Amino acid sequence: MEVRSTTLAYSGADKIVKQLKEISGRKILDIGTGGGGFIGFLKQALKSFDSFIGIDLNEEELKKAEKEYGTIAQFKKMNAEKLDFPDKTFDIVSIASSLHHLERPEKVLKEMFRVVKTHGYLIIQEMYSDLTQTEAQLATLQVHHFEAKIDTLLGEYHRETYTKEEIKGIVSILNAEELEIFDSTRYPKCLFCEDKDLCDNPMYETLIKSEIKYLRSSMEKISDYPEYEHLEKEAKKLEQDIRKNGITDASILFILAKKS
Ligand SMILES: C[S@@+](CC[C@H](N)C(=O)[O-])C[C@H]1O[C@@H](n2cnc3c(N)ncnc32)[C@H](O)[C@@H]1O
Repeated sequence: MEVRSTTLAYSGADKIVKQLKEISGRKILDIGTGGGGFIGFLKQALKSFDSFIGIDLNEEELKKAEKEYGTIAQFKKMNAEKLDFPDKTFDIVSIASSLHHLERPEKVLKEMFRVVKTHGYLIIQEMYSDLTQTEAQLATLQVHHFEAKIDTLLGEYHRETYTKEEIKGIVSILNAEELEIFDSTRYPKCLFCEDKDLCDNPMYETLIKSEIKYLRSSMEKISDYPEYEHLEKEAKKLEQDIRKNGITDASILFILAKKS
C-alpha cells in the first residue's frame, strides 16, 4: 500500500485552500465549533465573509471560542441535531473534526443541509483511519482512539476515527449538486501556521511534548476510575511509540458539497 508524504508542500492541503479562496462566504455557521478553531481557519482561507455563528453543546469550549473569536463570531449553545434556524439561512455550513463525536451524524448532516441556502456550500473536514499512513500518523490515530476510550468512560459520545469509505457513506445522504472530495495528509490550517516548516518533521520536539502533555492531562480526568491502572499502561506505551516514531496529523477528507 502506498504511503504518502506528510510534508505540507506535498500533502494536498494547498488544493483545498485554493478552492476556498474562490468562495465568498457571507453568512457562515460552524457546527461542533468547540474552541472556534475552524472559524479561525475559514476566516483566513475564504475569499470573503460577513459573519460567523458557531454552535456547540459544551459551554466551556464556547467560552474559549468567545474569548478568541468573539470579535468576528457569535457563539450559541445548541444541539446540532435540532438547529434553531429557519431553512436556507446560511451561505456555508461547516463541521470539522466532529463527525466521530456525533451519535447520529446523518441527522446532523440533514439539519446542516436544511439550513444552507440553495447553491450554498456544506464543508465537512474529518480525519480518517487506514493503513496507508506513516508510523507518525498512526500515532495520532492511536492517541485519538485512546481519547475516545477516556471520553466514553466519562460518559461522552466519542467513537474511533471513521475510515474514508465510512465518511463517504455518511456524506452520500446529501443530495448535493456538486461534491468535491479532497484527500490531504495535513490540515489546510497548517498553511497559515508559523510552525508549518517545523511540523514537516514528525520528530519536532514541541509537537511531541504537547501530545504527551495532552495524554497525561486526559489520564488525570480518570484518576479515580478503576480503569486507571490498565489505561495508564496503554498511555505509557503510546508515549514510547511517539518518542520513537514521532507524531504528525493523520490524513483527512475535506468535502465541499454544493446544494442544488
Ligand atoms: C473535536 S471537537 C470540535 C473541534 C472544532 N470543530 C475544531 O475544528 O477545532 C467536537 C465538538 O463536537 C461537539 N458536539 C458533539 N455533539 C454535538 C451536538 N449534538 N451538537 C453540537 N455540538 C456537538 C462537542 O461538544 C465538541 O466540542
